[in-house]
Amino acid sequence: MTKSTDLADQLSEAAGAAFAALGLDPALGAMRRSDRPDLADFQCNGAMAAAKKLGKNPREIATAIVEALKSSPLVATTDVAGPGFINVKLSAEALSQRAEQIAADPRSGARTTETPRRVVIDFGGWNVAKEMHIGHLRSTVIGDSLQRLFCFMGDTVTSDVHLGDWGLQMGQLINEVKLEQPGLPYFDASNTGPYPEISPVTMDDLGRLYPQASAKSKADEARRDEDRKATQELQSGRPGYRALWRHFCDVTRVGLERECASLGVRFNLWKGESDAEPFVPALVEDLKARSIAEFDAGAWIVRVARETDKKEMPPIILVNRDGAIGYHTSDLGTIIDRKQSIDPQLVLYVVDQRQALHFEQVFRASDRAGLMPEKDLEHLGFGTVNGPDGKPFKTRDGGILKLHEFIAQADATATARMKEAELGGDVSEAEQRDIAHKVAVAAIKFSDLSNGRLTNYIFDLDRFVSFEGKTGPYLLYAAVRIKSLARRAEAAGVKPGPINVELDAERALVLALDGFNEALRGTYDKRMPHILCDHIYTVAQAFSSFYAVAQIMAETDLAKRASRFALAIATLKQLELGLGLIGIDTPERM
Ligand code: ARG
Repeated sequence: MTKSTDLADQLSEAAGAAFAALGLDPALGAMRRSDRPDLADFQCNGAMAAAKKLGKNPREIATAIVEALKSSPLVATTDVAGPGFINVKLSAEALSQRAEQIAADPRSGARTTETPRRVVIDFGGWNVAKEMHIGHLRSTVIGDSLQRLFCFMGDTVTSDVHLGDWGLQMGQLINEVKLEQPGLPYFDASNTGPYPEISPVTMDDLGRLYPQASAKSKADEARRDEDRKATQELQSGRPGYRALWRHFCDVTRVGLERECASLGVRFNLWKGESDAEPFVPALVEDLKARSIAEFDAGAWIVRVARETDKKEMPPIILVNRDGAIGYHTSDLGTIIDRKQSIDPQLVLYVVDQRQALHFEQVFRASDRAGLMPEKDLEHLGFGTVNGPDGKPFKTRDGGILKLHEFIAQADATATARMKEAELGGDVSEAEQRDIAHKVAVAAIKFSDLSNGRLTNYIFDLDRFVSFEGKTGPYLLYAAVRIKSLARRAEAAGVKPGPINVELDAERALVLALDGFNEALRGTYDKRMPHILCDHIYTVAQAFSSFYAVAQIMAETDLAKRASRFALAIATLKQLELGLGLIGIDTPERM
């Protein structure tokens, strides 16, 4: 546990003591950022609540608190505003001290959680054989940011990509390959292996066969029955089908790992829906024995509706009438698997908001079955990425944009933008490519994460890759500018010194840096990375205003120069740390 040090906490403590001296609850002293930064840095509304309780005049109480606060070394000025708001402007010493702390702290002033947990984050969720599309990209970007953040806060995080590798799609695909290549050994039921080591299909084949198979299955009932049968046979272990299916999984995974490396995303586990399968038979038996599973129209179901429900809450199908298991059951099996191997205290599912009902059903079933309580399972939904027409994003010809094509497009746009902005001219070609890729990834991730998780947004690569406005590239540029200052300083022998906050722009910058802890806490508690994105942007802007008025290298007062330089370095550290938590890597130069 690290000590609480942010300015709001320091002030709340001082104001709390003043409330306590009046015989009141110290919690009334809670200070927060002022609604009117032109008038005050912080405000406290506790006098109003206290007055209500005591039947007293709030201004009277506020005045007593203000009198007590005046002697605090934290406070420059304080007064009562309106009906009883307590306004505080911090002293230069308090800001300077806080800046020193932030500069010296490897966590840049951010605390860890007081109650570390074992957390599983289920994200990515790519499907075997299916082209990766932008919806899964969102899950990957948001999930990765949360995994970094939860680790940073002190939790023990296990991330699981949880591939979709076990449903009807697999049976459809097996049958589609059989139509194209009927002679393969996988289809001969009497052949139990060994089978060829080389896959009979490539990822491109799968990308072509998958939509073809699912269209046929949709249109033709006889085919659908065949697909169901193949799925059931695969799931119950028919060796040829298992061997062919392994190829589908392996071929898909190679591509996925390449894409993940390019995005800088790592998973602890590469499990899939199929890994839940060993846990299912015992689960089904147990639920039958306890009459939690009911036999209904040929299938085994679990009811999850509650009297208080305002919307329809269909039961889950535990085992369908062909004896196959579906998405709900595999999620239940996965909960058992995780419980046994990790025993998580919290599981986060970063999945499209359109699956909200699915997760509600699964969580309720898990609770009913006594696997994991509903309150420890959280679905973190997200909105869709839309095209300019406001509909879920498609390529110009109406298809799905492949992830590697998408990344290549972003790289190309970033390269063009850097040329326009005359950046990266004096470095080697390899470094240029590396920088452009970092800019592209920053653009993709920041545009995604800075939108509220649940809002839909319109995909606009040109805007996202801009070096101006609230974009990833702008933030990279802000950080790189300080790196270049640091290089010049080093060459001139300039070293950081004690921080002394004097200018308004310095005050504003320190106040911005001080907000890191709160921004992280908000992002963590709400699982909303846009809060952290907003913070990073605020810091970059505050730095830019500071840098515009405060000279550093040209400053002749050496103490001032060292102080400003120290502030710049502290800013850089926080920017890099914050960007790192949203999965963005900063280049050395641009
Ligand atoms: N593969 C699924 C899909 O594409 C997402 C998996 C999400 N995770 C989970 N445990 N259900 O829709």
